[in-house]
Amino acid sequence: MTDTQSRPVTSADIEAALALGPNGPEISSRVPFPMRDWQHVPAERYHSREFFDLENEKLWPKVWQMAAREEEIPQPGDFVEYEIVGQSLLIVRQTDGSVKALNNVCRHRATELGRGCGRFPGNQIVCPFHGWRWKTDGSISHVFGREGFAEESVQPEDLRLREARCETWGGHVWINLDENAPPLLEALFPAANILQRSGVQRMRAKWWKEAIINCNWKLAQEAFFEGWHVKQTHPQLYTYDDEPDSEFNLQNVDYTPFVNGHGRFQSGDAAESYGGKPDFLQAARLNWSGQDAMTLERDIHVFEGVAGGMDTRDPKYVKRAMDALFEYWEGAGIPAPDRTAEVLKMWGGDIHLFPNYLMLPMYANSLAYRVRPHGDDPNWCRFEVWSLTTYPEGHDPGRLELSGRYDKDDADHWGLIPRQDFANLERMQRGIRNRSLKQTTLSDKWEVTIANMHQELDRRLAAG
Ligand code: FES
Ligand SMILES: [Fe+2]
Repeated sequence: MTDTQSRPVTSADIEAALALGPNGPEISSRVPFPMRDWQHVPAERYHSREFFDLENEKLWPKVWQMAAREEEIPQPGDFVEYEIVGQSLLIVRQTDGSVKALNNVCRHRATELGRGCGRFPGNQIVCPFHGWRWKTDGSISHVFGREGFAEESVQPEDLRLREARCETWGGHVWINLDENAPPLLEALFPAANILQRSGVQRMRAKWWKEAIINCNWKLAQEAFFEGWHVKQTHPQLYTYDDEPDSEFNLQNVDYTPFVNGHGRFQSGDAAESYGGKPDFLQAARLNWSGQDAMTLERDIHVFEGVAGGMDTRDPKYVKRAMDALFEYWEGAGIPAPDRTAEVLKMWGGDIHLFPNYLMLPMYANSLAYRVRPHGDDPNWCRFEVWSLTTYPEGHDPGRLELSGRYDKDDADHWGLIPRQDFANLERMQRGIRNRSLKQTTLSDKWEVTIANMHQELDRRLAAG
C-alpha cells in the first residue's frame, strides 16, 4: 500500500478545493471561455471547436485515465485497445501478471497492431502487414526481411513498441500519455482513498455496455454529479409517502468538491423524520429493475426475505434489511464493506474521478460510468456503463467483454433509469448551442462539484 492510499482523508483535504476559489486572471487569460466564478459555466465550453481542440492538446495527453477493467485481460497475452482522441494503446497482460500500455503502431510502416480485444498467441504481437513480431513486453523479437534494411535502422531499441505510463488501482488499469505525470494515486487523491473504504477494489464487472450520445462528454457526465434531478427525471424512484418538507431532500445531501478536480455527493446527517418517509423496499426494487447495477436481484431477495408483514417505510425495517444483508454476505463468503457511517452514507451517492470516470457504490455493488469524446466532434460522446459487484471469495466471473453498443432508447438493453438520463443529455446539447444562452447557472450548494471539475480543467488547459 502506498502512502497516498493509506493516508486518511481529513476535513482539511475536503476544504482544500473550496479554498482554492475561482481561478485567478493568470489562468483565465490563457483559456478560451474560462470559468470566472463557481456559479456559471460558459456554454462554449461544451461545443466550441477551439475549446475541444485545447482539451485534446492539454488534457487528454496528460491526465490519468481509466483505460480498462483488470478482468478484461485476465491471462498473459490478453489485450484490450484503449482509444482516446485518435491515440490508440494496447493494454496487455504480461507473463508476470503485470500490465503494460503499448502504443498501438508498428515501428515499420505504422500499421495498427491490435483492434478491440483479444489474445496474442504465444505472447507474440504480430504485425498483420509484413509480419514483424514483438514480445508482449514491447521488445522486438523478429524483423522479417531484416537483410534488406540498413543495420542502423533496425536497432532493437528503435523498434521497441513505445510504452505509456500504466498503473492499476481499484480493479482498473489506468494510463497516462505523459511520462512526467505524477504517480496515479497522487492524482486520484482523495477520491480513490474514499472509494477504497466501500470495497470497490474487490468488485468485478457483471456487465458492461455503451451508447454513443449526441452530447459533449462533460455535459453528459455532469448529469450524474447530483441527485436532485431524481424527482423530475426519475419520478418512479420518488417513493415518499407524502410530500416531504420541500427543502429536505436537497438539504440532506452533501456535495463536496475535492482537490485534483474530484468530487462527491452523499447522504447528509439530517434525521430521517425530518421529511416524508420513502418506501425502502419499493425503491430498491425499482432501482434493481430500472438499472441492475447499484441494487441487484440478490439484494432484493435478502430485503424481501425479512419484510414479512413489516411496514417497509419504517426505519426499523431498513435496519433489519441492512442486518440481513451483512449476514447474507458473511454466509455467502462475500467480503463485505466496512459497516461504518462513512461507508453507509456513500450508498446512493457518487464519486467523480477527474476527468471522466464516476463510481456509485452501493451495498457490495457499484455502478460506474466513463465518458469520452467520440470522433473529432465536441457534440458527441462515448458513454460506457459498468455494473460491478463483489463475488463470493474464490468465484471467477471469467473474462469481461463489452456486451455491446446500444441505442440510447433501446429498452431491451438499457433499463428505465439510464434511458431517462440519456433522454436529457441530447436535449441539453441542443440547448447549450442556443445563442440566447451564454452560460449555465449552477447552485453553489448542489452543483459545486461541476464548477470544481471545470476549475481543474482550466488549470490543466492553462498549463504550459
Ligand atoms: S507495417 Fe508492420 S511489419 Fe510492415
Ligand atoms: Fe439520473
